[in-house]
Amino acid sequence: MTDTTSYKDLGLVNTKEMFRKAMAGGYAIPAYNFNNMEQLQGIILGCVASGSPVILQVSGGARKYANPTMLRYMAAGAVRMARAEGADIPIALHLDHGDSFELAKSCIDNGFSSVMLDGSHHPFEENARITRQVVDYAHQKDVTVEGELGVLAGVEDEVSHEVSNYTKPEEVEEFVSKTGVDSLAISIGTSHGAFKFKVKPGEEVPPLRFDILEEIEKRVPGFPIVLHGASAVIPKYIAMINRYGGKMDDAVGIPEEQLRKAASSAVCKINIDSDGRLAMTAVIRKVFAENPSEFDPRKYLGPAREELVKMVTHKNEKVLGSAGKA
Ligand code: G3H
Ligand code: 13P
Ligand code: ZN
Repeated sequence: MTDTTSYKDLGLVNTKEMFRKAMAGGYAIPAYNFNNMEQLQGIILGCVASGSPVILQVSGGARKYANPTMLRYMAAGAVRMARAEGADIPIALHLDHGDSFELAKSCIDNGFSSVMLDGSHHPFEENARITRQVVDYAHQKDVTVEGELGVLAGVEDEVSHEVSNYTKPEEVEEFVSKTGVDSLAISIGTSHGAFKFKVKPGEEVPPLRFDILEEIEKRVPGFPIVLHGASAVIPKYIAMINRYGGKMDDAVGIPEEQLRKAASSAVCKINIDSDGRLAMTAVIRKVFAENPSEFDPRKYLGPAREELVKMVTHKNEKVLGSAGKA
């Protein structure tokens, strides 16, 4: 028996209209990763509270963790929950860092409204070939596709890189026209995870390469650009984690002013995973440190979820600029 579902039946939308408005309005759509119920609730409630459109994104590993069938109904539940809260915000369900045509197809057939094919580890021609294959299938179903050119440092769903390989602006036009992608992730100095830079005390983190971004904007005017690895690694959560038994002294991320600047450019989607993980972990550590005999998951996941709502609201209002744009 084939069991396929279109995202349209789940109440989801693709990213086309979101990006069109974000480009015109000088803001970016937040793309928050999730893999469990509390994360999903926290993201939705934060976006409802701030009236923001949202891209819910799931890596291949997260999809396995949550279970593909469960995920489909979680996304449908998220749409209903937002409406019940009185806010009909646009919600997309997106595959993050898809590494094969088969995975992208499986997501498209199971309710995703948008997929990323990350072929950035392949040579240009091979990257373009697989991405085109995904675009051809996705566009038949009105699903949008994100490609990637240039490699970020850090870990991308089990693939790890020591150094970044900045996107070459001269390759962007050809990649976009060859593949037909709807948006493109680029490498301009961000990286995945909570340890983005090695900085000595008193040193500043190196600024993002806005010169490369500007060159890309000139070559593909009005084309939606995506920034991965864009967590700020919020210092108050690192301090809390360290205070309550954790050990993350060297964690450092992208300063929020730089992300705000990127959001007002052609960057239409900003990916945030680590900041959500840190917010929840910080609160859970605090609860356990203060209540060592606590063992009801609601007593630690509940406060963690509340903190995530606050973090998402803050990001949408002060960093992405997406608050009130639903
Ligand atoms: O870019 C990677 C995302 O943060 C997803 O992480 O592969 O551990 O689910 P994950
Ligand atoms: P962070 O690790 O900076 O949150 O990046 C997340 C990301 O790019 C997901 O694709
Ligand atoms: Zn990423």
